[in-house]
Amino acid sequence: MSTTVTALTKAVTIHTLRQHQADNEKTACVALYDAAMATLAQDNGVELIIVGDSLGMTVQGHHSTLPVTIEHMVYHTAAVSRGNNHSMIIADLPFMSYSRPEQAMDNAALLMQAGAHRVKLEGGHYLAKTVKKLTQRGIPVCAHLGLTPQFINTFGGYRVQGREAEQAQQIIHDAKTLEDAGADLVVLECVPSSLSKAIIEQTNLFTIGIGAGPDTDSQVLVINDMIGTSPRPPKFS
Ligand code: KIV
Repeated sequence: MSTTVTALTKAVTIHTLRQHQADNEKTACVALYDAAMATLAQDNGVELIIVGDSLGMTVQGHHSTLPVTIEHMVYHTAAVSRGNNHSMIIADLPFMSYSRPEQAMDNAALLMQAGAHRVKLEGGHYLAKTVKKLTQRGIPVCAHLGLTPQFINTFGGYRVQGREAEQAQQIIHDAKTLEDAGADLVVLECVPSSLSKAIIEQTNLFTIGIGAGPDTDSQVLVINDMIGTSPRPPKFS
């Protein structure tokens, strides 16, 4: 079977994503961190890029994402932006860089000025005020629920979240609350596909899945897992 790859020729916006959603057409998403990979992505039709704080592990060699700073994220977001004119670039707000709404706005502004088109933050309903302030000021937000790696010390390991009914209900509630606050995209990481389905059915969020079943609007993979340079790539990659 052959696959046709089409280079991107115009900017991907929220309207592009909503159109794909309406057409039931999947959107490719890759987490990557530098200009060369960003150009490769654009030339191969990858519409969504996440400059993820996973770079703490994949690029910097740490054992978690916690050591990543806003300065690191700005550096990598600027590099990705220089290598890519068309994909939508989502940049991560790193650990503790959005613990207060004002702090989140200042740090999100740095990412947007470095070339991001929106920011991503990990966590649930308690971020509603922050999400509202960001979106009201022209900074679109992608939420991130399920296995949120910045909570590794709380979770005690990288394991599936939302298996039990109560936790699944909490994640659905988080998704709805953050959507009400203004988020329009969500990454669902390592959750059962039944939970992804419930969020797809009960919200209008554009869903990006990673280990979250086949139903999300987009699937994201980390570039290092894709090209085989991760020591322990996840099964789904
Ligand atoms: O940090 C990251 O790369 C991410 C993606 C895996 C979604 O958050």
